Amino acid sequence: MPQQYFITTFGCQMNVHDSEVLAGLLGKMGYSQAASPEEADLILLNTCCVRENAENRLYGHIGNLKTLKERNPNLIIGVCGCMVQQPSEVAKIQETYKHVDLVFGTHNVHQLPELLDKIRTSQSRVFEVWDSEGEIHEGLPTKRDDPHKAWVTVMYGCNNYCSYCIVPYVRGRERSRRPAEIRQEIKELVESGVKEVTLLGQNVNSYGLDFPERDWNFAKLLQEIASGTGIPRIRFQTSHPKDLSDELIETMAASRQICRHLHLPVQAGSSRVLERMNRKYTKESYEALVAKIKARLPEIALTTDIIVGFPGETEADFEETLDLVRKIRYDGAFTFIYSPRIGTPAAAMPDQVPETVKKQRLEQLIAIQNQISLEKNREFIGTLTELLIEGPSEKNPVVWSGRNSQNKLVHFKPVAHIHPGDLVAARITNAQTFTLEAELLC
Ligand code: SAH
Ligand code: SF4
Ligand code: F3S
Repeated sequence: MPQQYFITTFGCQMNVHDSEVLAGLLGKMGYSQAASPEEADLILLNTCCVRENAENRLYGHIGNLKTLKERNPNLIIGVCGCMVQQPSEVAKIQETYKHVDLVFGTHNVHQLPELLDKIRTSQSRVFEVWDSEGEIHEGLPTKRDDPHKAWVTVMYGCNNYCSYCIVPYVRGRERSRRPAEIRQEIKELVESGVKEVTLLGQNVNSYGLDFPERDWNFAKLLQEIASGTGIPRIRFQTSHPKDLSDELIETMAASRQICRHLHLPVQAGSSRVLERMNRKYTKESYEALVAKIKARLPEIALTTDIIVGFPGETEADFEETLDLVRKIRYDGAFTFIYSPRIGTPAAAMPDQVPETVKKQRLEQLIAIQNQISLEKNREFIGTLTELLIEGPSEKNPVVWSGRNSQNKLVHFKPVAHIHPGDLVAARITNAQTFTLEAELLC
């Protein structure tokens, strides 16, 4: 029987894509994917530590795996990803979770095959986490689940040190992949039938700033991918507002391949809070940026991330966030309760906001944003759009789903001759808070 693996992924698209590389490496070693953890010979948990509740849930998962290990002592249980870049968490696993055999970090994903060998030959637990990033490893095998949409990392790490955020500590400094490598990967994806790529980086707008020649930037990379690969659709995330250039806006306006969606995390609406967050823009400069984007790209959908209850956030500061949300009218927002992360400057700031206040602010913000999302979605009713067909929807397979350029999830009744991966014209007929309905025009 071939060995089988089961990977559970937490956190952002960076981790999702790392798991695709882990699956690719295991495939090369002869492993196949197990249908459930019970059937697996190797279980990997790819972890996230961006907020405390993400971490707590993880320890629940790790604990639950103990019974599987008792049933099958040959099972290898591994924990990788961002959480184990923190030495305190590695120590905790080492001491308290003895059924975990393998720990490795975000900088040595490529080492998985040799670490598994080491477990077999040494018959002991293997814990190997690099505390800083090495060179970029190109050409690692990748097993992507979706045949038509692909994540493509363009840069690793983050240099921004927003005062609340753990990511720079667990993902290392910014490193950009060479444009030729990115172009080649996307060309191969196009040849295999991929219709849409999402370029990934914690802040794609600082792409290329780490090249000594300083001869590339993100706008230029987008032009290169649009003209050099033939990929029908390009998305990217995330854009830090402080670095979003006019050249990027012009590049988007000039290319129909680049989707009309920008994820532009604002985090807070009060300039005082933004300064304490070390975001390097003000409410006013953010609003001016959005006005410029909307003027040049009128059909753009804007989404954002917002944190409520940052240390020292007063009721007046929070009102400014609500005010900004009402003014900008985002298509959608990911909203978070501030979670202190040990080692970040914000965790040591005075005036931590009480949990009850944070929760109440979050509810208020979500209610306002949901109303705006619904209103924005209703504006689409009657308009024509192009959908990339995903296939039968999970909840109700007689209905199919797809996404339009603005990244809206659209439900429709399928017609006989369409297939997942097709790009088809549709007319929007109805709208809810998180989805649209359409009829196909083909
Ligand atoms: N690089 C991206 C995303 C980073 S993590 C960016 O800059 O936008 C995704 C989101 O998690 C962040 O945008 C932020 O809104 C949220 N986040 C990060 N640290 C957090 C913390 N300590 N507490 C609550 N939310 C946090
Ligand atoms: Fe975290 Fe800020 Fe970097 Fe985003 S830009 S990953 S929020 S430090
Ligand atoms: Fe979480 Fe790491 Fe992403 S901390 S949000 S998985 S970069």
